[in-house]
Amino acid sequence: MLRRLHPEQPESFSFTAANQQWAEAQITKYPEGRQASAVIPLLWRAQEQEGWLSRPAIESVADMLGMAYIRVLEVASFYFMFQLQPVGSVAHIQVCGTTSCMICGAEDLIAVCKEKIAAKPHELSADGKLSWEEVECLGSCTNAPMAQIGKDYYEDLTAENFGKIIDDLAAGKVPTPGPQNGRYAAEPLKGLSSLAEYEAGKPKYNASVELATDLSDTVKRIDGTEVPILTPWLGKDGKQAGASAAAKPPKAPETPKPAVKQAAEANAKPKPEEVKEDQPETLTAARDGKPDDLKLLKGVGPKLEETLNELGFYHYDQIAAWTPEQVAWVDARLKFKGRIERDGWIEQAAKLATGEETEFAKRAKEDGTYED
Ligand code: FES
Repeated sequence: MLRRLHPEQPESFSFTAANQQWAEAQITKYPEGRQASAVIPLLWRAQEQEGWLSRPAIESVADMLGMAYIRVLEVASFYFMFQLQPVGSVAHIQVCGTTSCMICGAEDLIAVCKEKIAAKPHELSADGKLSWEEVECLGSCTNAPMAQIGKDYYEDLTAENFGKIIDDLAAGKVPTPGPQNGRYAAEPLKGLSSLAEYEAGKPKYNASVELATDLSDTVKRIDGTEVPILTPWLGKDGKQAGASAAAKPPKAPETPKPAVKQAAEANAKPKPEEVKEDQPETLTAARDGKPDDLKLLKGVGPKLEETLNELGFYHYDQIAAWTPEQVAWVDARLKFKGRIERDGWIEQAAKLATGEETEFAKRAKEDGTYED
């Protein structure tokens, strides 16, 4: 199956503040020069936040890790756990269609998906709440047929109980994951033939289901505020990531690591909410009718360029001269706040204003696919 970027993409992506903090903490797990090792956790968190991976999300993760966009796209397009197109706003259902599940009724489950969700995989249901796809073996063959819904497994399914699960999800309920036929875990269908003495006094759910119900995040988007962000690898004291990561930023690696650098810079600068706004000098039109191509700033697409022009900014040198107070003023007028600092517009604009190339501008000129 071809896995490509979706033709319709959002203009930008940014982690929530808490997820950004979480992501920066993950990067500190890896030794100097090996920050790319955090690529899967960061992509996964982006997907947990948005439901799927857009091109801006992939590029944002690449920038944080100092990786080429194509390298991160290779990871995102290789693993089926990553969704490259929008999924149902409530849940994306992955039905296993491999041998054990197929023999035990996966085709019936797929028929239910077609009837209740959409005729084709990856199509959104009419209300946009659900989507589905067939996937390869998910390693729960003993409990075939099964499906992964959000983060959890639903096992020992029949067309009937699976249909009920889908109806419940559409109605805003979250059914209990695990075996759906009364089985505790993966014991024989006819009951235990050994270790039967442990039958009495066992907890209500098996460990996986227990954890799933404790976390209750089966189909929940993760904004990073769910649990404290811990960084035990930075001192084994269980301190929250903000304090630990800020106190011990990793050494600068040989290749630039924008996110790590920006995190250090962000710690040195006053936070946006603490900065008073100050309107920068604006223009009513581009000087000599020749505006700079602001799309050569990473993070600025055609719509943002239009907004900047409407605000009175046409040239790199205008942006390069913004003070923190002026950044706060502009930021307050943009749809996606925090981009200026996160994407380093001022540093990029300063280079472009003097005729220097940035990596992004070079790529955007050479390769049309990178143009926003
Ligand atoms: S065949 Fe379906 S989980 Fe293995």
